[in-house]
Amino acid sequence: MNSDWYKDRVFYQIWPRSFKDGNGDGIGDLYGVYEKLDYLKELGIGGIWFSPFYPSPNADYGYDISDYYSISPEYGDLEIFKKVLDRAHSLDIKVILDLVINHTSDEHEWFRQSRDKDSPFRDFYFWRKGKKPGKAPNNWSSFFSKGAWTLDPKTMEHYLHLHHVKQVDLNMDNPAVREEVKKIMRFWLDMGVDGFREDVITYISKPKTLPDDVFFQAVKGLRFYDCGPRIHEYLQEFRTDVLDKYDCFTVGEAPMITPEKALTFVSGPHPDLNMVFGFRHMEADCLLKEYIPLPFNLRKLKRAFTHWQKALNGRAWNALYLENHDHPRVLSRYGSEKYHDESGKMLAVSYMLQKGTPFVFQGQELGMTNFALKDISQYKDCVAHNVYARAAKILPEKLVMSVIQRATRDNCRSPLQWSGAANAGFSEAEPWFPVNKNYPSINAEDEDRDSDSVLNFYRKVIAFRTQSDIVRNGDYKELMPMHPHLYVYERRWQGQTLLVICSFTEKACRFRFPKGFDPSKAQPVLCNYKNAPQADGRTLLTRPYEALVYKFY
Ligand code: NOJ
Repeated sequence: MNSDWYKDRVFYQIWPRSFKDGNGDGIGDLYGVYEKLDYLKELGIGGIWFSPFYPSPNADYGYDISDYYSISPEYGDLEIFKKVLDRAHSLDIKVILDLVINHTSDEHEWFRQSRDKDSPFRDFYFWRKGKKPGKAPNNWSSFFSKGAWTLDPKTMEHYLHLHHVKQVDLNMDNPAVREEVKKIMRFWLDMGVDGFREDVITYISKPKTLPDDVFFQAVKGLRFYDCGPRIHEYLQEFRTDVLDKYDCFTVGEAPMITPEKALTFVSGPHPDLNMVFGFRHMEADCLLKEYIPLPFNLRKLKRAFTHWQKALNGRAWNALYLENHDHPRVLSRYGSEKYHDESGKMLAVSYMLQKGTPFVFQGQELGMTNFALKDISQYKDCVAHNVYARAAKILPEKLVMSVIQRATRDNCRSPLQWSGAANAGFSEAEPWFPVNKNYPSINAEDEDRDSDSVLNFYRKVIAFRTQSDIVRNGDYKELMPMHPHLYVYERRWQGQTLLVICSFTEKACRFRFPKGFDPSKAQPVLCNYKNAPQADGRTLLTRPYEALVYKFY
């Protein structure tokens, strides 16, 4: 964890099941990834993050792992993975894997054995007696099911699962569990992978007594297991015993974390992690979660962006993203399907020119959008089913379905749109999940040919940011923070300045060049329209969802 290579690259997240089917069974796999590595190189990608591809019963599509040391036969085997890894490295693309160690599948061998009270694996998990017969050991709720505890009738004890009932929380206080985690890390690092994205890593240390949640804290998302008592100790142990011995890097998923708290993980001489993924900027059109929708509020988005940029500047490194496998498509949320190309491109500029390492989620570079399915049975996301099971009892079906259609993670998990051919060129067989019907107009093959496409714009922005010292190193300052439709920031580095102007509306907005920015000296370096606009004196009028980047010397 010593060198800084991760600061100079743009990462691409592959959710393997929907990326590309290479063996004709309707499910994306590593054979498909192998075929498409050149596409990623051409996009300018310098690193891949693989969402889990390990054996899994798929209660949560791979985030419920039953074997940490191999590849699910649905996705290939270790041989094809090594081929992907070698080829990626020969293209100078780093590869990081998802490390899911807060929980295992209930079908993992450790958990099977732990069901027996006398097993050495009993203490790998949290097995507890209920407070009273018929009552759970504490009042914790689960993200994906009703309660966080399930009773095993064999021993009449409950096990803890903060997520799905088939995702059982590991007891990290047990040194044997930590040794297993280190073994898993070494196995993949020795094979040559370059690091890990660490799933819900801030949840891995639970307080010994597992105290009840306090209602008013819990509704705000404050939980005792979030950044629990021994979290730093464990992450330091992983770093010292394993990660320090490799030239690798880590990015931790940290739900609800503030930048100030994040600094306790990512700053200082021997930080626990290299970067964390914060969530605040994903709440600009909802209350905490997409399932509680609100109108899009640009000021909220800007506040989140700027808070992270300012707090980490000079002290730590930001992880930048607008999409991943847990959120609906950003173009449908913060952009506009009506202004598809303009807003898709503008969104790329809005986050990728900030300070940090950008991540692009598969299909984001094409401007893929949300799409609605009619019936709950068509959805695969366990969260959608959990919400439906609970809400449809008390609310009108139509309302519940409309919220699910907008919020479900399945929006971003449809097969990647490679071409206008059958099944969007994703597979020759019927895909495991429906393709978005707009694939005849939004797909990689056509966008590759069209020099004005969202895809070609992403290539441009990535090339620009990868070669720019100002983008890598410059200080960030937001201008016009109260403007309801324009997001404007500057980046300054060694006497050079970039001015980034992003319009989040179809309305024309008058933009006035601030003091110190002489429009006659502005050199346009990126614009999502064919020509950059002419400034009229000190002002200009923005076009729908316009993105403009000027350089000043
Ligand atoms: C966060 C992952 O990103 C999400 O997809 C998963 O469902 C939960 N962690 C549980 O592993």
